[in-house]
Amino acid sequence: MTEARELLLSRIRDVPDYPQPGVVFKDITPLLADPAAFTVLTDELAQLCVRHGATKIVGLEARGFILAAPVAIRAGLGFIPVRKAGKLPGATLKQAYDLEYGSAEIEVHAEDLCAGDRVMVIDDVLATGGTAEASLHLVRRAGAEVAGVAVLMELGFLGGRARLEPALEGAPLDAVLVV
Ligand code: PRP
Ligand code: MG
Repeated sequence: MTEARELLLSRIRDVPDYPQPGVVFKDITPLLADPAAFTVLTDELAQLCVRHGATKIVGLEARGFILAAPVAIRAGLGFIPVRKAGKLPGATLKQAYDLEYGSAEIEVHAEDLCAGDRVMVIDDVLATGGTAEASLHLVRRAGAEVAGVAVLMELGFLGGRARLEPALEGAPLDAVLVV
């Protein structure tokens, strides 16, 4: 493992039995509080965006916003928020997705993405892949192309990569850390 990855891993805190018994929550707040680690992560994700030829950065509410906004600035690209339903004031495209119990919806302003855009989707964690999958559908429904998906952490044991594969349609999925 590289020094950069060791630093990032050391700044992620395992919280047992949160938000429910038996779950180990990956808390990224120590990483965000460490400017050296946050800069390493931002630079790594921004390099991926440039390498994949992205022209816009989509961040997924809420934790994805924290990472995607500095990445967009670093890469010199615009930031587009994908929000949980009901938060965006303009005309939106909406996409439903399944949660472990029940379902949820995310939205994007329709005017924020269009044909010719190459979009990099940024989030903190890939777990089951449901959130990222829904975001890719939104990007394509808006007429834009998917440049890739990049996350800080892939929870390999939850199989999100396999679930996301069809929706990627050959676009890359990069995880800075696989845990
Ligand atoms: C978490 C995490 C990812 C998503 C991953 O978001 O930040 O966005 O779950 O799970 P999945 O791959 O199974 O879809 P969540 O909506 O729980 O909370 P947040 O608003 O704090 O980002
Ligand atoms: Mg999230």
